[in-house]
Amino acid sequence: MSNPVIAWYARGMHSSAPRPLSAGRPSRGLTGTIQVPGDKSISHRALMFGALAVGETRICGLLEGEDVLRTAAAMRALGAEVTQEGPGAWRVAGRGIGGLVEPEDVLDMGNSGTAARLLAGIVASHDLFAVMTGDASLRRRPMRRVTEPLALCGARFSSRGGGRLPLAIEGAREALPIEYSVPVPSAQVKSAILLCGLNAPGLTVVHEREATRDHSENMLRHFGAEVHVAVDGHARTITLRGQPELRAADVVVPGDPSSAAFPIVAALLVPGSEVCIEGVGLNPLRTGLFTTLREMGAVLEVRNPRTEGGEPVGDLVVRSTGLRGVEVPPERAPSMIDEYPVLAVAAACASGVTRMRGLKELRVKESDRLSATAALLEANGARVEIDGDDLIVTGNGGPPPGGGLVVTHMDHRLAMSALVMGLAAAKPVRVDDAAFIDTSFPGFSALLNRLAGNGLPISA
Ligand code: S3P
Repeated sequence: MSNPVIAWYARGMHSSAPRPLSAGRPSRGLTGTIQVPGDKSISHRALMFGALAVGETRICGLLEGEDVLRTAAAMRALGAEVTQEGPGAWRVAGRGIGGLVEPEDVLDMGNSGTAARLLAGIVASHDLFAVMTGDASLRRRPMRRVTEPLALCGARFSSRGGGRLPLAIEGAREALPIEYSVPVPSAQVKSAILLCGLNAPGLTVVHEREATRDHSENMLRHFGAEVHVAVDGHARTITLRGQPELRAADVVVPGDPSSAAFPIVAALLVPGSEVCIEGVGLNPLRTGLFTTLREMGAVLEVRNPRTEGGEPVGDLVVRSTGLRGVEVPPERAPSMIDEYPVLAVAAACASGVTRMRGLKELRVKESDRLSATAALLEANGARVEIDGDDLIVTGNGGPPPGGGLVVTHMDHRLAMSALVMGLAAAKPVRVDDAAFIDTSFPGFSALLNRLAGNGLPISA
């Protein structure tokens, strides 16, 4: 089996030993045309909606990272037929809404908050009992943000202290529709409620104060559900008519803009680079990083803009450029929430100060990303400060010193950000464990090494 993540999946998903890795400056610029793995958010949803639909859904470009394979295994445990037919090509034979079966064993969601929270929504409105757990990182993350609203449908939850996994769910026998104002900007919470609402009669209504990624809404429509979105400034109200007949629909998964962020920032920072990334998802609720990088002076050219599977997509061309510090407004955070660690690396190489405002949600990601990002920069001689929920980076106006060891706290995006720092910094940067990169970006190091002409700037 050539894909190591698929091999890991076939081995029963037993995690591997820590994999330290280091990155140094490549001997030349990064050049070439690449594709990044499929969008993680869309991949989870394609498997889930496929399992809830009647008929066979075919997915192409599925992210075969560990997080998504956890969702595949969970949907299979709930009775759907989920099979890989080729690289990135998957088939899901769905059970129809209300048709899921009780899983025989605990559902292990690994490192994935999206898998755990969205699945809690699905199970909440099915008359079955399920227990969910995850790895040490996921078991630390807050689940009350979904269990509190989902309890309104009649489901019952018991968890460890602080609403942490493991979580036992007794799904509602006859779920009630929920109306809820989401107190934190979270697409996961919104999506959990919408997924729950699929098996409740009447209207499920979610109010969000700030718009978050709308892949669930798009995919609900794609599978034939009736969804209405009312926009009022940054706020949105999403209304779903419950108990639709979801019809199987084919899904083309675009390249993940959150994964494209790493080669993009690397190409901006390594002198002499020119990289084209084909087929990147450009949903405006995901592209806050690209807006910010443009404000910092980057030229990101979009070629061949098109729509694929209901999502805007394009090829992105980026060349190395000197960057300047900017202020990133808090209302932009939901559209670039996963990109702050790598933006902080770019900011450390820019001239002037970058202030990233309103990053409270970063504290509850795969790690406390606010303090871990500050530690990443500090370990490499960059000037950084946390002020309340803001991250302030004073750029070096060129490569920061580097030479640090970065503790990644089971967080894939910290690991990749640290390696991008290593490509740009004066001295190599080492990470304690790069194994978690496989959750979202299998083949990351090989791809960047290929852009560097296989001079292997990233190696053990
Ligand atoms: C995701 C939503 C975001 C994001 C995560 C994926 C999703 O989380 O950080 O990587 O697919 O809905 P929150 O909803 O917690 O902000």
